[in-house]
Amino acid sequence: MQNFEFQNPTKLLFGKGQISTLKKEIPAYGKRILLVYGGGSIKKIGLYEKVISELKEIGAFVIELGGVEPNPRLTTVQKGINLIRENQLDFILAVGGGSVIDAAKAIAAGVPYDGDVWDIVTSKVSAPSNSVPIGTVITIAGTGSEMNGNSVITNWETNTKAFFNSSHVLPRFSVLDPELTISVPRDQTVYGSVDIMSHVFEQYFHGSSHAPLQERIGEAILRTVVETAPKLVNDLNNYEYREVMLLNGTLALNGLTAMGVSPDWSTHLIEHAVSAVHDIPHGGGIAIITPHWMEHVAAVRPEKVAQFGVRVFDLDRAGKTDAELAAEAIQSLKEFWKSIGAPTKLSDYGIDDKEIELMTERAMLADQIGSYVSLTKEDVRKILRNSL
Ligand code: NZQ
Ligand code: ZN
Repeated sequence: MQNFEFQNPTKLLFGKGQISTLKKEIPAYGKRILLVYGGGSIKKIGLYEKVISELKEIGAFVIELGGVEPNPRLTTVQKGINLIRENQLDFILAVGGGSVIDAAKAIAAGVPYDGDVWDIVTSKVSAPSNSVPIGTVITIAGTGSEMNGNSVITNWETNTKAFFNSSHVLPRFSVLDPELTISVPRDQTVYGSVDIMSHVFEQYFHGSSHAPLQERIGEAILRTVVETAPKLVNDLNNYEYREVMLLNGTLALNGLTAMGVSPDWSTHLIEHAVSAVHDIPHGGGIAIITPHWMEHVAAVRPEKVAQFGVRVFDLDRAGKTDAELAAEAIQSLKEFWKSIGAPTKLSDYGIDDKEIELMTERAMLADQIGSYVSLTKEDVRKILRNSL
């Protein structure tokens, strides 16, 4: 294990009806509020009215920024920054999915920064310590954004999807009511399940030695998704399955399994490059790329892929090499994702080989990416080609 520091101050307010805690939580941070939300799902499910009623009870002054896109855009973030500055707001309430929360984080960091917020998103400069405080109400299980300091933003002018991580934008509190996720459609439910598994993979396939506890925690999350997702996609209104999935998503990316290890993140870098060029759902892209990434790394280091297969899909080790087990593990993962309805190839989204070079370019944040197995540009190009 490597030395590490860990601090996660986000207060979780989990369970049915927890929306009613907003009036208690918010006043500590201020009553001039930017309310950030997406394309309208919160209005359809009656959540918008509930939030407004909570805000009225505390006499809040509210400015709204609706219409945050899935794969949120830099231009929307810049709009939010201007709204806060013009109206001297002191708190951001983000109500929605990972995209809404990520946009809120970039807005929060951009307000006290004199330059272009893209400098922060691309980690050229750090997020300021006086970033605007944020609270969230999460409406879809998957990204873990409700309890982490990550924000992923797309600049459409340059086809670049970049991310930053800062403790200064960690939500002060997050409301997690599984009931609010019941309206998530089947495809988005599948994407969320895939994304949760991928977040575990990125940390499970790490570049460090001896982290057995972190790996076991990751396997527990993976097994829970494998048990729950097939039941959930066939019973979308089931509160208990929604509850389990929501907590899975939070624990998969709140720093718990990254303690003491250097995570890999290549699959995410490759997917971010794909969705920066083609604007596809993040979890869909991840479902397509992951098996090809895993095949690539299994050819170099099959042992952890084999371990994953044995411990998560109960593969029988008897008489098999790690390479054979790894191949079975990848096959099991492909079959599992296909069985819940995840896409399997980029052409499912109408993507052909035209932009392979641009996507390869965008994925390569450095000369080599990844820490379990490091990937060169040529490796990334090959993984993308295999994903077509
Ligand atoms: O925009 P609305 O109308 O709200 O609809 C959304 C959107 O169309 C809908 N939705 C959300 N909650 C709903 C609902 N529909 C019905 N009922 C509900 N209760 O679902 C669609 C997708 O929403 P989005 O927020 O885009 O999904 P997700 O949470 O998967 O977020 C994806 C974004 O997060 C980034 C991704 O790259 C992508 O930009 N990521 C953020 C991470 C983080 N902050 O740690 C890590 C991830 O790896 C990921 O990269
Ligand atoms: Zn993800």
